[in-house]
Amino acid sequence: MELFPPSQPQARRHLISVSDLDRDDVERILATAESFEAVMHRDLKKVPTLRGRTVMTVFFESSTRTSSSFELAAKRLSADVVSLKAVGSSVDKGESLRDTVQTLSAYDPDVIVIRHAAVGAAARVTKATSAHVVNAGDGCHQHPTQCLLDLYTIRAVRGSLDSLHVAIVGDVMHSRVARSNIQGLLMLGARVTLVGPPTLIPRHMTSLGVEVSHDISAIADADVIYVLRMQHERMSEGEAYIPSLREYSALWGVTSERVRPGQLVMHPGPMNRGVEISSDVADGPSSHVIDQVRAGLVVRMAVLYDLLAGPGPADASAALRPVPVAAGVAAGQEVA
Ligand code: NCD
Repeated sequence: MELFPPSQPQARRHLISVSDLDRDDVERILATAESFEAVMHRDLKKVPTLRGRTVMTVFFESSTRTSSSFELAAKRLSADVVSLKAVGSSVDKGESLRDTVQTLSAYDPDVIVIRHAAVGAAARVTKATSAHVVNAGDGCHQHPTQCLLDLYTIRAVRGSLDSLHVAIVGDVMHSRVARSNIQGLLMLGARVTLVGPPTLIPRHMTSLGVEVSHDISAIADADVIYVLRMQHERMSEGEAYIPSLREYSALWGVTSERVRPGQLVMHPGPMNRGVEISSDVADGPSSHVIDQVRAGLVVRMAVLYDLLAGPGPADASAALRPVPVAAGVAAGQEVA
C-alpha cells in the first residue's frame, strides 16, 4: 500500500483516500477481512493480533456505525482503545484539531482514526502525529473504509464486481461515500451510473468514468442500487437543491415499485426513511444494509491490521497472530 509516499525511511502508511490504494491493496485487505470473518463466528471473538498496540478514535462529527465498528475492531484485535467524541466543540476547527491530535499523540498511539467536517483534516493529522492515520470521513471528500466495506458486501453476495452495474442514487454532491465508492467500484471493474437531480450531481463527475442519469428509471438496469442520504448538514444555507423533501421522495425515492427482485439495495446509513428510501425497501429482502454494518467490523479490523503489519502478501493465518513491533517511527511533527 503506497499511502502518502514516504518522506523519510520507515515513514508510516496512512489510509486517507481510496486513491492511496491499488487493486492489490484492496484485494489483500478484503482477503484479510474474510479471515477475520471466520473468527467472528467463534465463541471467543478476540485475536491477539494487535496486543500491546494503541488505537485512538477521534470523531469531530456524529457517527454510530463508523465509530462503533472501529472501536470494536480494535478491541477484537486486542489493542488498547481510546475513543474520543469531540462533537459540538466551539473551538476554531483548525486549532482544536491540532490541539487534540498533539495531546493524544503524547500517549504514542499506533493508529489514530479521525472523522472531521473539514476536507483534508485527516491528511493534516498525518503531519501532527507519529501514528498511522485512518480517515473515517473528511467533509464531503473521502470515506475509504466505507468503500472497502461496501466492496466486501457486494462481493460476498455477487462473488465479483467485474462488469456489475451499480447505480448510486441521490445526493452525490455532498457525499464522501459516493466519491470513495466511485473510485473503488471502478477499480474492481464495475460500471457506475449516478442517478439524481442535476442540482445534486456535479457536472465534472463524468470525467471520473461514470455515467449520469437524471431519470430514476435508470436504476431498473442496475445490479446494485446504492442509496445516499440527503445530507442536509452539508448543504449551504439558502441553496435550494430540491423543491421539497416530499417532491424529492416522489421523484427520486427508492421504493418497492422501483426495485425488482434480485437487485441489491445498499445504504451507508443513517437512513432517512420515507425520503431517499422507503421503509419496506430498507427492511425488505433486497436490502443489505445490515450486512454492510457487519462487514464494517471485519473490514476495519483488516485495515488496522494492514497498516501495522505492512503490505506483505495476504496471509490469513498471520492476521490471527500478534504483529511484531516494527522499528522506530518519527515523532512529533507540526500540523501544517
Ligand atoms: C456516511 C458518512 O458519515 O459519510 N455514513 C457512515 O459512515 N455510516 C454517510 C452519511 O452520513 O450519509
